[in-house]
Amino acid sequence: MTAEKGIGPKEFEAALGIPAGELDARTCGLLSDARLRYLPIDDAGQVRLQDEIAKQIANGFTIVGEHRAGIWRDVWQEQLDLFESSGYDLKALNPKFVAGSSILRWQGAYVRGVTEQFELVFLEIMRDWLFRTFLADIDHLYEFGSGSAFNVAAYAELFPETPITALDWAPAAVRIADVLRERRGMKIAGRRFDFFAPEPELTLGTGSGVLTMCALEQIGDRFGAFLDYVVANRPRRVVHVEPTFELYDPSRPHDQLAIEYHRQRKYLKGLLPALERLEAEGKATIRLKRRLRFGSRFHECFTIVVWDPTPT
Ligand SMILES: C[S@@+](CC[C@H](N)C(=O)[O-])C[C@H]1O[C@@H](n2cnc3c(N)ncnc32)[C@H](O)[C@@H]1O
Repeated sequence: MTAEKGIGPKEFEAALGIPAGELDARTCGLLSDARLRYLPIDDAGQVRLQDEIAKQIANGFTIVGEHRAGIWRDVWQEQLDLFESSGYDLKALNPKFVAGSSILRWQGAYVRGVTEQFELVFLEIMRDWLFRTFLADIDHLYEFGSGSAFNVAAYAELFPETPITALDWAPAAVRIADVLRERRGMKIAGRRFDFFAPEPELTLGTGSGVLTMCALEQIGDRFGAFLDYVVANRPRRVVHVEPTFELYDPSRPHDQLAIEYHRQRKYLKGLLPALERLEAEGKATIRLKRRLRFGSRFHECFTIVVWDPTPT
């Protein structure tokens, strides 16, 4: 029998790449309450999973793009219905696609999550840390591709006085954000937005913060219009949590499978090199670039990139 292992402050700090002992009491407390436990999988099990996952990838997944607008419209309509029928319980905003699998990727291997909804719980703790570390000093938050609005709701609970705009191309996603204001009194407004065609009249103040979480993922290599829009607006901070193709290591079979999955779905490609070019040109400062080596069965959506556009 393999012994269970846990993710406590030491493991969390190592994943984030921050010095031991740096996590504050709040994150340590959240980790201790969550008791994140998993079962390691032996070498034979790793090989079995690699074969199984390779077959699933070979069988094919849908590719991202405009043709998926209808899918997102339906997903978020269903979530809105669920939110309303729950009596506006914030837990009803947790998207189905998080925590869908008990097989997870952790530090270069597959593991089996023991804690219920492992992926969601990990995400909630990481997000709490990320918001408090990088988005505490802004005067307005804009989340682009906000989906069920569970990220902006979590932000509003931490910073109730900061206005938030939640933007998405799916009408129900925009509506959920408005319902959070109407029913829960949060300072959140929804607004329609298409990454493929940002509207220049939507201006972001110089004290504002921009967030994308597993959203640019959906636009492949077509992030140029959005990046130009953000650079032109010069918000104070930009935080991305996105699967990042360039940080996988093709020499490792475990990473190679994530690369194949990412390629097949035509997920985000080229954003990090584009940000590095902006930095070389003096237009941006990258404050954090970190692959957490944590993810679901197929890939890792939790790579963090934080950057500041250079003020004029
Ligand atoms: C995987 S979901 C992530 C949602 C949310 N950020 C989260 O963390 O759960 C991707 C989101 O991107 C939105 N999206 C996809 N393509 C888009 C586009 N071209 N413009 C605006 N939103 C888009 C979808 O409607 C969906 O809400």
